[in-house]
Amino acid sequence: MTLLITGSAGFIGANFVLDWFANHDEPAISLDKLTYAGNLQNLASLEGNPHHTFVHGDIGDTALVNRLLAEYRPRAVINFAAESHVDRSIRGPEDFIQTNIVGTFHLLESVRGYWGTLGAAEKSGFRFLHISTDEVYGSLAPTASAFTEQHPYQPNSPYSASKAASDHLVRAYHHTYGLPVLTTNCSNNYGPFHFPEKLIPLVIRNALAGEMLPIYGDGQQIRDWLYVRDHCSAIRRVLEAGQVGETYNVGGWNEKSNLDVVSRICDTLDQEAPRSDGRSYREQIRFVKDRPGHDRRYAIDATRLERELGWKPAETFESGIAKTVRWYLDNQDWVENVASGAYREWLNKQYT
Ligand code: NAD
Ligand code: DAU
Repeated sequence: MTLLITGSAGFIGANFVLDWFANHDEPAISLDKLTYAGNLQNLASLEGNPHHTFVHGDIGDTALVNRLLAEYRPRAVINFAAESHVDRSIRGPEDFIQTNIVGTFHLLESVRGYWGTLGAAEKSGFRFLHISTDEVYGSLAPTASAFTEQHPYQPNSPYSASKAASDHLVRAYHHTYGLPVLTTNCSNNYGPFHFPEKLIPLVIRNALAGEMLPIYGDGQQIRDWLYVRDHCSAIRRVLEAGQVGETYNVGGWNEKSNLDVVSRICDTLDQEAPRSDGRSYREQIRFVKDRPGHDRRYAIDATRLERELGWKPAETFESGIAKTVRWYLDNQDWVENVASGAYREWLNKQYT
């Protein structure tokens, strides 16, 4: 029994692998291309763990993936690998098309070939679990009901369009070839190891560095926040008991405007790490140019996951954000290490 986990050095993948070994001793092979978002430091606590094997590589490298499948014979593949930042997809969509669409296609082809070689029992027990996003559903009106699994796909950014395409490929491989797939569509995650290009870790880092806290447009866009370890427990539950061919929405029932999120982080930092001048971090907030095509509101209806599989998030936004701020205060070395020259270049390009 082994898992193949792709994108395992990124934010959610790394949290998933760490949580996996906190809950199981079933071996896992990690496959990651180590793009700017992948960081082996995230998996450092697994060094010396005989059940974990890290492989540096691309999900689109068919020869490598075929070799890993033949050698380790996983009972499941969990696909986290992706380009994940919406702003980067707006500035340069090509990597998103390459990894999220073409890469997922190559991975599916490799998995289809491997799955076809399995005996009947292994074949029916096998799972391909694809990790996707609520952004495929598009933007909600202020009073519209939250996204259910039946909501039509209306992706608005190159990132969400590439994820939507990958979801469709996964669905098609089940419908056409019978590959036993599962898909999860999750809302915004936050927590440890979140790369500081995304709103929450960017704001924590900038606040402590005395830099501006950039809020796009009027800051009234709404996201539905889920603590990353709750996402990991949902994925484990779907892998264990999800119905083959089905999709599951994962969310935290935590709709917040961006301005509220940033204000909450400022208030937490005011308590935990007050500014030396005694003023509030809120004074560093700046309203900046809006994201092109910025989706106004996302909200996930996670009723199906609760009703059918008994999953519920353990954290509220308040408890999760307190843990997250504490993690960043305790791990400023990690932030310094990821805030390289390339990272500074990204900030300069995006915010000046
Ligand atoms: P991330 O950008 O932090 O990590 C992505 C990881 O994938 C990195 O380690 C990167 O090196 C790796 N990778 C990229 N291209 C690869 C390739 N071609 N082959 C192998 N590895 C490759 O992303 P994340 O936030 O951890 O997101 C993980 C997955 O979850 C993505 O599929 C994303 O769409 C989805 N998701 C993210 C969120 C969120 O809020 N972050 C919410 C819902 C769904
Ligand atoms: O909804 C799930 C998605 O959440 C995932 O699929 C994506 O991979 C993940 O990156 C995230 O996308 P968002 O675009 O919602 O996350 P981000 O942290 O980039 O932005 C959150 C909100 O904050 C969004 O409305 C844009 C806004 N924002 C973001 C940044 C980086 C700002 O106002 N200022 C900023 O500097």
